[in-house]
Amino acid sequence: IASALTEKSLKCLNVLVTAGPTREFFDPVRFISNPSSGKMGYALARVASLKGAEVCLVSGPTHIEAPPGVSLIPVVSALEMHSAVVERAPRCDVVIMAAAVGDYRPDVQSESKIKKGDKEITIRVVPNPDILAELGRQKREGQVLVGFAAETDDIVENARLKLLKKNLDMIVANDVRDPRSGFAVDTNRVKLIFGSGDVVDLPPMSKDEVALKIFDYVEELVKRREG
Ligand code: CTP
Ligand code: CA
Repeated sequence: IASALTEKSLKCLNVLVTAGPTREFFDPVRFISNPSSGKMGYALARVASLKGAEVCLVSGPTHIEAPPGVSLIPVVSALEMHSAVVERAPRCDVVIMAAAVGDYRPDVQSESKIKKGDKEITIRVVPNPDILAELGRQKREGQVLVGFAAETDDIVENARLKLLKKNLDMIVANDVRDPRSGFAVDTNRVKLIFGSGDVVDLPPMSKDEVALKIFDYVEELVKRREG
């Protein structure tokens, strides 16, 4: 993709990207998580950096190396991601939440390993803060806020509801049941949905290509804001 990016069109912009899953531990060796690989978020961070932006990547645990020039902030849990993002977002021009943030965490985290037994045990979970919704409430003039929506049914309708509820400028919707999109694969088939109501239905392509497309539209949104 480097060859497609001769123009430093995001120069002077601060971009924050989140990626990967979160881990919600309930004892020192066990956690609740999801299959996110981080590929989509890392591709976005790489494209933004190649386009000349100052990029900060807040990432849950992945097996991917940080792209060159990107400042990586590793986190583990949703609460850690929440603090890292909320602290940095106010000084960013563009924030893209590609992370698969755990919606719930165990209400207690045992300091010792829970020993197995014959009886069933119950893990009680409590809701995590919605990081993106909070960013939407705090969004400042000119800031561009992009979310992802992982859906299995009524993709566009559900994604549009998230866009409105979280005060986003764009949401990237994917059908996580489609084997060419969603979790831990190299390709993605997404629909881009905008505050204006426009929907762009992209064909299946690599996550690098999706990242390029997303930034084509993000640049437009930034320009429109700058007036
Ligand atoms: N998100 C977030 N904080 C959370 C949960 C989600 O910032 N605690 C962000 C994700 O990074 C994504 C967007 O919100 O950009 C939508 O995530 P998704 O899981 O599709 O939707 P939810 O709002 O969590 O609703 P649900 O999982 O019930 O569909
Ligand atoms: Ca969720």
